[in-house]
Amino acid sequence: MAGSVGRLWTILWLSAAGTAAQGAERVQPVAYAAEAPAAARVALGWNEFRRQWVPTPEISQWDGLGPLFNARACLDCHMGPALGGRVVMPDLGPVAAPGMVLRLGTETGEGHPALGRQLQTLGTGGARGEGRLALGRSGVGAEARPQVSAVLAEPPADLRLAPLLAPPLIGRAAIDRVDEGAIVALAAQQAAEGRVAGRVQRVTLPDGTEAVGRYGVAAGRASLAAQIADAFALDMGLSSVFAPGDAGDCTATQTRCHAAPHGPDPWRAGHEVASYEIELIAAFLADKPAPAQRRAAPAPEAALFAETGCADCHVPQMPDSAGEMVTLYSDLLLHDMGQDLARPFGVEGALWRTSPLLALGPYPGRRYLHDGRAGDIDGAIRAHGGEAAPAQARYAALPEGARARLIAFLEGL
Ligand code: HEC
Ligand code: HEC
Repeated sequence: MAGSVGRLWTILWLSAAGTAAQGAERVQPVAYAAEAPAAARVALGWNEFRRQWVPTPEISQWDGLGPLFNARACLDCHMGPALGGRVVMPDLGPVAAPGMVLRLGTETGEGHPALGRQLQTLGTGGARGEGRLALGRSGVGAEARPQVSAVLAEPPADLRLAPLLAPPLIGRAAIDRVDEGAIVALAAQQAAEGRVAGRVQRVTLPDGTEAVGRYGVAAGRASLAAQIADAFALDMGLSSVFAPGDAGDCTATQTRCHAAPHGPDPWRAGHEVASYEIELIAAFLADKPAPAQRRAAPAPEAALFAETGCADCHVPQMPDSAGEMVTLYSDLLLHDMGQDLARPFGVEGALWRTSPLLALGPYPGRRYLHDGRAGDIDGAIRAHGGEAAPAQARYAALPEGARARLIAFLEGL
């Protein structure tokens, strides 16, 4: 099945290229993608997810990778059994960290005026990468953590760095389905009950309207499509209708970057990535549910999880707009997690969106928390501070057997 779909797509692609050369009427991949059967959309989405984008005009006339970028494919960062980034720490020396990026900020957390929102390590078309990541380690044994720093030719004095590790994407397409009103209502309920104090992240959409943010470590994106478009723009320098501007994360002072060739494509409505390509990736991700999302009844340990206070933030299920329940183990709200976990971006730095607890593993290379600092689930829980400090303390005070049962429950999600 997948093979024949792949072939069909290749034929389509070739015939599309052929008609371009002849200037004849073009094949409509958009219409095909929209009307394709679900299985074909998933297979096509997988192709887009692992597709190696190229700079214009390397192969196709228009791809338009970069000028500044971190990777050429989603799969370069979101790899592994659960499509998440991994940090591999051998005993000696710094190593590459697939899926690790450095977000940049100043005092206000708005991104850096010269370097933008993220350090892009690669450049093309005359633009040079802004620097590279150096991965080291601190601590030993179970305490060992990856430590990421930026190596820049001329590091600006006011640069603040936040390392972030690509999370596994298994099950996360379902975040898109949660009813916006339910997220807002949950914040009000938490405020009334007083155990935790989740905040709604509000984001402004390109058309000027407001929506509730839900994707990303700080819930900065309101939909899966917006998150995928932002990944294209920030990680690969590719524009789309959701993230226009072919120069990606190039700032006004990065003139070489603006002068480099870009790839606006008339077949992609003048952008570098078409909306249907984003939709296909969303279809591929939606086809990858986590074990907990395939199961009907929760395990008996769910009660222990709730009694410990974990479910106050890691809310097992949220309703979609039709009232059907979506399993995420997250309230999709922002919580103050304490100074140890904070990024150095001012007062907002301690706020993180509750991680969905899905595909926790363990599997080789899986690391936990926003920057992968924890090597196992126990370490991730013990690092909880701020609003989560009481739940963390209850967890630490559990008898060892109960703690082991709780971890086994989490591993099954
Ligand atoms: C250079 C590495 C890199 C590349 C390439 C990359 N990502 Fe990511 N991705 C990350 C990191 C790091 C995060 C976590 C930071 C954040 O949430 O803002 C992330 C977060 C996400 C999330 C949010 C998950 C959640 O729970 O909210 C989704 C969805 C996602 N990526 C999809 C994609 C897709 C689709 C592509 C390809 C178009 C892609 N990513 C390309 C590194 C990458
Ligand atoms: C106040 C809200 C809150 C409470 C209570 C809470 N958490 Fe979390 N949890 C979070 C947030 C926010 C993150 C993401 C923090 C980060 O990445 O730095 C997180 C991350 C995690 C992770 C890491 C997930 C991953 O994929 O990296 C695990 C595991 C986890 N929590 C388990 C628990 C357990 C078990 C409990 C109960 C003992 C608990 N949490 C209580 C908010 C909470």
